[in-house]
Amino acid sequence: MANRSLLTHIGLLAGIIEDGSPFLAGESMAVVNTIENAWLLMEDGMISDYGSMDSLPPRPEDAISQDCSGRIVMPAFCDSHTHLVFAGTREIEYVDKIKGLSYEEIAKRGGGILNSAARMAEISGEKLLQQSLERLDLIQSYGTGAVEIKSGYGLNTASELKMLRVIKQMKMMSPLTIKATFLGAHAIPQEYRGNPDKYVEVIVNEMIPAVAEENLADYVDVFCDKGFFTVPQTERILSVAGKYGLIPKIHANELGFSGGIQTGVKYKALSVDHMEYTGDAEIRALRGSRTMPTLLPGAAFFLGMVDPPARKMIEAGLPLAMASDFNPGSSPSGNMQLIWSFGCIKLRLTPDEAFNAITINSAYAMGVEQELGSITRGKRASLIITKPVPNLAYMPYAYGDNKVWKTLIS
Ligand code: NIG
Ligand code: FE
Repeated sequence: MANRSLLTHIGLLAGIIEDGSPFLAGESMAVVNTIENAWLLMEDGMISDYGSMDSLPPRPEDAISQDCSGRIVMPAFCDSHTHLVFAGTREIEYVDKIKGLSYEEIAKRGGGILNSAARMAEISGEKLLQQSLERLDLIQSYGTGAVEIKSGYGLNTASELKMLRVIKQMKMMSPLTIKATFLGAHAIPQEYRGNPDKYVEVIVNEMIPAVAEENLADYVDVFCDKGFFTVPQTERILSVAGKYGLIPKIHANELGFSGGIQTGVKYKALSVDHMEYTGDAEIRALRGSRTMPTLLPGAAFFLGMVDPPARKMIEAGLPLAMASDFNPGSSPSGNMQLIWSFGCIKLRLTPDEAFNAITINSAYAMGVEQELGSITRGKRASLIITKPVPNLAYMPYAYGDNKVWKTLIS
């Protein structure tokens, strides 16, 4: 018999999409479809039906029911860009930054990503798994139902594989939907500083075949930016990864006009992420493509960097997703409610635009939009039930509080 449960008297059911849109772009990002005083029926973990309480059908006898008066029910957040598998935190760099060092200066003297890579080499797989599972529990309590996780603190074949194997174990152990991304090209290890192309050859000749052999990654990423990987190096990696069926999702234009956005579009990336440096040429490249522009306002906030021109991008008709970038160096929080607030406060998105950026559009940016990211019949019932709140705008407005009561995962 089907396993049924019914939510009744829902203050606001938000994020309904009935036309099958895989994402929302431009003006349509401003619309969140809702029903006040609603019900929603789940059957075997799927959303089977919903409507207004005026038209509540007779309750199936076997259904467990939950009164959601005063609460919002919405799709769980999809966090399409994280580095949440990492070994230990980096408060020292945080203090250095407060004292005036830049992210690039810290990276240059062996801090930053290389600091995390040194710790990654030391930690056991079990310990890494345990730390990472704790982080998953934490983000679930803040409303995340699906998360993309990158490697990239390994920077050698053994350590990259260790990270990706941990992510694979997490996929099996956690109720959350997880996608894995291979990011061997996250930074140039110290020993290759004089010859970065040689490291790129290790990535394409050694790492990518090993990752593919064990089927450890869904996507491939490159940090295509000033001081990190160049466009030709990025192209080399993406073209080889493509032969193994790895679709790109790339870090682009966080530190400068790197050409990363255009390269991502050229290689049919699912998303290009960061994008603080986005001008007319980048917007032109993205228009009409299937690549999701993804903004990570937590990182720009934490590092005190420039914000991307989000309004201009929406006005140009682009879609936007947002993600947490959860990592120990530039965004040590995976709380998507905070990202919702930053989207409004820093990027000047409306609460409804920002909602679409962290649900349906970020679902698309991690390839799960067919099953998650909206209230749609037949999609999985991965839902947030909030604490009693007055309206949807209250969610990003009351920043810093956890407004999530329960995250249902299926
Ligand atoms: O997305 N930009 C590159 N990578 C990460 C930072 C990782 C780190 O500093 O550890 C990011 O911000
Ligand atoms: Fe990142």
